[in-house]
Amino acid sequence: MGKVIMITSGKGGVGKSTVTASLALELAKENQRVLCVDLDLGLRNLDVVLGLENRLMYDMKDVISNRCTLEEALVQDKRMPNLYLLSGCRNINLDKVRLYDCQKIIEKCKAMFDVVLLDCPAGIERGFQYAMCCADTAFLVVQLDITSLMDADRVTGLLLRQGFSDIQLIINRVNPAFIKNKIQCSIKEAKDYLSLPLIGVIYEDSMCIRAMNYGHLSVACSQLTQRCFQTIAQRLLGKDAQIPKYEKRSWIRLLQHD
Ligand SMILES: Nc1ncnc2c1ncn2[C@@H]1O[C@H](COP(=O)(O)OP(=O)(O)OP(=O)(O)O)[C@@H](O)[C@H]1O
Ligand SMILES: [Mg+2]
Repeated sequence: MGKVIMITSGKGGVGKSTVTASLALELAKENQRVLCVDLDLGLRNLDVVLGLENRLMYDMKDVISNRCTLEEALVQDKRMPNLYLLSGCRNINLDKVRLYDCQKIIEKCKAMFDVVLLDCPAGIERGFQYAMCCADTAFLVVQLDITSLMDADRVTGLLLRQGFSDIQLIINRVNPAFIKNKIQCSIKEAKDYLSLPLIGVIYEDSMCIRAMNYGHLSVACSQLTQRCFQTIAQRLLGKDAQIPKYEKRSWIRLLQHD
């Protein structure tokens, strides 16, 4: 049975879909069969991030309403044959997507894949609630600002109440110059605030935005960003991989506590 990981944050726009797509690519490179599920019901965009939007025929609501089988709704990434997408739905009456249906689909997917990544919407509404009922692990994506950390803290409380024992932190858009000038708080401060184990760090990388717009995520991100995602994938698989340090020598000390 595969592992089901929800990628969540509380706050919107902090990088959940970027992390989902890039991590999926790196897991696929590690020979894992990976499925990304877009639980941003009503506002899906993971298909675009993965560059698979032109290949979508069906989505989750089509499976639920028996317009297609689950297998027919899965889109395989031809560039990375181990990687699949199950798309969320756009412009539908969300009441038609019930928790029971979602659980049934994810349960089937668990039997077909090594890792299932659930890309959650911002906030703590339906998609988040469904993900909480389907996942066994949560990756909490945060940025180094107080609103992101406060929302993540609230989400952590909800996850703990739900019985999650495996919640790990991914800190995104880290800018060592900002940390040095106290524009961003430090990685240690964020870790201490949330009291969660850190699985990975992603640095600010303008190539991420370009890559996302062209739908070729980690292929077109900087090498450092790719190594950051590779490390998260390897650590998830139980390998002893060190979180990459920012390449400019003067910043190396910032991460020495990891
Ligand atoms: N490390 C990074 N460096 C630079 N830009 C980034 C980085 N990570 C994400 N971004 C950019 O931030 C924006 C938001 O990212 P993304 O859509 O992944 O966030 P999200 O949490 O999924 O948003 P939403 O809550 O709306 O679903 C995108 O333009 C993306 O390219
Ligand atoms: Mg998103």
